[in-house]
Amino acid sequence: MPEWAQNPWKPNPWFESVAVAQARARKRLPKPLYGALVAGSERGQTVADNQAAFAQLGLLPHVAGAHAERSMGRVVLGQEVSLPVLISPTGVQAVHPDGEVAVARAANARGTLMGLSNFASKPVEEVVEACPRTLFQMYWTGDRDVMVHRMQRAQKAGAIGLIATLDWSFSMGRDWGSPEIPEQIDLKAMVRLAPSVVTKPRWLRQFGPRHLPDLTAPNLAPPVPGGGWGAAPTFFGAYYEWMTTPPPSWEDVAWMRQTWADISGTPFVLKGVARVDDAKRAVDAGVDAISVSNHGGNNLDGTPAAIRLLHPIATAVGDQVEVLMDGGVRRGSDVVKALALGARAVLIGRAYLWGLAANGQAGVENVLDILRGGIDSALLGLGLSSIDELAPETLVVPDGFHVS
Ligand SMILES: Cc1cc2nc3c(=O)[nH]c(=O)nc-3n(C[C@H](O)[C@H](O)[C@H](O)COP(=O)(O)O)c2cc1C
Repeated sequence: MPEWAQNPWKPNPWFESVAVAQARARKRLPKPLYGALVAGSERGQTVADNQAAFAQLGLLPHVAGAHAERSMGRVVLGQEVSLPVLISPTGVQAVHPDGEVAVARAANARGTLMGLSNFASKPVEEVVEACPRTLFQMYWTGDRDVMVHRMQRAQKAGAIGLIATLDWSFSMGRDWGSPEIPEQIDLKAMVRLAPSVVTKPRWLRQFGPRHLPDLTAPNLAPPVPGGGWGAAPTFFGAYYEWMTTPPPSWEDVAWMRQTWADISGTPFVLKGVARVDDAKRAVDAGVDAISVSNHGGNNLDGTPAAIRLLHPIATAVGDQVEVLMDGGVRRGSDVVKALALGARAVLIGRAYLWGLAANGQAGVENVLDILRGGIDSALLGLGLSSIDELAPETLVVPDGFHVS
């Protein structure tokens, strides 16, 4: 009998659910950092609905006739993944000294794909080394020349695809207050943050005496003449570039997709699609995949939960592009529900950020294992042998659930 099966409830660093990982992250992190991961915008309607909507969907199980073997591997974006859960790109991973590298190692160890934010704290070269199957994510920031340089850098590093995230509206307010983010973590900032940090000595210790969290964005560093990259901008420097870049048109989307195709020839994903008409425009722009997403509720508050938007979009374009979704996934049965409504795979954000904050690489692996175990037991309960058998009929869907 494996050790875990002897008594799986024995207290240990392994956590049993994403909610427990979140509780541990909350306990471990200084308050402003925990707040940065909670994120959300305005009154928090969308961030709450992303999770609440999953709870409105039911599953109809069979009592007997289940399958002893079940499979959840699938080809996503041309890559075999061992479970239909990918790492969504997120900033803020400097909450752990290994940040995106720890997440990438975990994704690699568990047989899935890493999404790396252009606002990441680690350079794309290091992250691809940790997980060769990394998708690089870009916002529409800077001019076209700068974007071409960034795409070339990602291609040269070995990225296996590009995620263009376009849903962002620079909303500044949250009813529960925003955490202070210093320009950089220097002595002055440490003194100011001291009251929230001194109570978390275990968290601080892992950075060592000189390695305080780095709040720069190395993947947005400017190219220097003759090759190479200049100094990484601070988070706010990078944010300023983004805020002052005019928003993209559909022609810009088509340009970005074509430019990436010319540079790399690997898949192009448009993330942040909420409408059927936009999904069709994305198809016309030539994208390979879309992610039905509201940025985890961090963007335009009032956007419906991503899972409510999924089925109409998957029905409209699912035979032309790969349809992914992200937002609110916290358990294996959530993944099963999203797949039943037409997603090829889901992406997770906060779930793995809680794991990272709680226990580094092992914590992210823990989260992926929770989701794997949850998908497997949901399939077992439903009497299915594969995620390929999931369909809308697997679910109990309340009237008016789907939104388009
Ligand atoms: C703290 C935080 C930072 C994020 N940063 C990015 C980012 O840099 N780029 C991006 O495309 N999406 C970003 N996202 C959105 C995620 O990729 C994803 O869409 C979202 O987290 C999914 O919802 P979930 O957190 O409920 O899983 C971020 C989300 C969070 C919570």
